[in-house]
Amino acid sequence: MKVYKIAQIPGDGVGRDVTAAAWAVLTKAAEAGGFRLEGREFPWSCKFYKETGAMMPADGIETLRGFDAILLGAVGWPAEVPDSVSLHGLLLPIRKAFVQYANIRPHRLLPGVQGPLKAEGFDILCIRENTEGEYSGAGGRVHQGMDNEVAVETSIFTRKGVERIIRFGFEQARARRGKLASVTKSNAQKYSMVLWDEITKALAAEYPDVEVTSYHVDALAARMVMAPESLDVIVASNLFGDILTDLGAAIQGGLGFAASANINPDRSAPSMFEPVHGSAPDISHLGIANPIAAIWSGAMMLEHLGEAEAATAVMTAIARTTAAGIGTVPGEDKTDTITKAVLAAIA
Ligand code: NAD
Ligand code: IPM
Ligand code: MN
Repeated sequence: MKVYKIAQIPGDGVGRDVTAAAWAVLTKAAEAGGFRLEGREFPWSCKFYKETGAMMPADGIETLRGFDAILLGAVGWPAEVPDSVSLHGLLLPIRKAFVQYANIRPHRLLPGVQGPLKAEGFDILCIRENTEGEYSGAGGRVHQGMDNEVAVETSIFTRKGVERIIRFGFEQARARRGKLASVTKSNAQKYSMVLWDEITKALAAEYPDVEVTSYHVDALAARMVMAPESLDVIVASNLFGDILTDLGAAIQGGLGFAASANINPDRSAPSMFEPVHGSAPDISHLGIANPIAAIWSGAMMLEHLGEAEAATAVMTAIARTTAAGIGTVPGEDKTDTITKAVLAAIA
């Protein structure tokens, strides 16, 4: 029997609830599919930071390297640990160290879910650059706290980094409906975004079967609301992709539905699967976090591991659950109720 080693990092707040839900569904799907998921849970979180002074041990990355995939909940508890410390101590270093440069985030309505838009038939795949750009962490502050303080945050875009993510976008578009929206702000940002546009144009020649359009990010945000069905694959930088995918989550009914996969396309290190949402401190004590985003991310993990049939079984179970009206309205059903319904729907 095939065995996959999975590192589980539930993290903070609702991350803990939704990871437990996803794990229950994934292990059941594995059992039905004739393979095994061997999980090992790591307590790395803001609580761990308070106890040890670090978000993960010094050899954390090396420990994770031995796994086939990582299933993560959410990181961040801003009331106790500054986000700039927690995210740069756990989530962001994993994405970078394992060269998970392609962050894949699907946006479509599940059956029975009423989104805020009139449009219903949209199916968007956002490909977000995940290792550089605006999240490079380069910069600094001088004269801190003084009137003359200056803060600099430098975005770093490498030709290699931009080219590989846009190529990834073209490949995804080729495998879907053949349309790629490349996102920049090259009217205002005249270096990095012009490089991005140039590379998009150069790669277009290699993909004559893909219809590529360059959009400014502001215009694309409006298009996602006004005409989402006109979009297929979107490729965007780290920060633009971050913002557009919370917008994508909103048009698919809420953050509780938005899944994501941090992929290392070369498979030289493990990929990581996590919902788009965070630790949701405002609802974390209520037991009402929607686990569907985390379960869907888990289905993306199964797909990545090569267990396509089990991934489809999980997606079908999610669809059966929402079609029955369970988990469709934020806050209406308990995490447990939704999880049990998905478990019962697994063939
Ligand atoms: P958030 O995504 O945690 O919450 C935004 C809103 O969405 C909240 O109203 C919340 O209740 C709701 N929401 C989120 N997940 C939900 C779910 N599964 N079901 C129903 N409603 C849900 O964003 P935030 O409040 O800006 O961030 C809270 C913390 O999480 C911060 O520390 C932030 O940095 C961190 N964060 C982490 C990740 C991650 O680990 N990938 C992602 C986003 C934010
Ligand atoms: C996400 C999150 C993270 C990001 C934060 C928590 C650093 O918002 O995964 O979308 O911006 O990448
Ligand atoms: Mn985000």
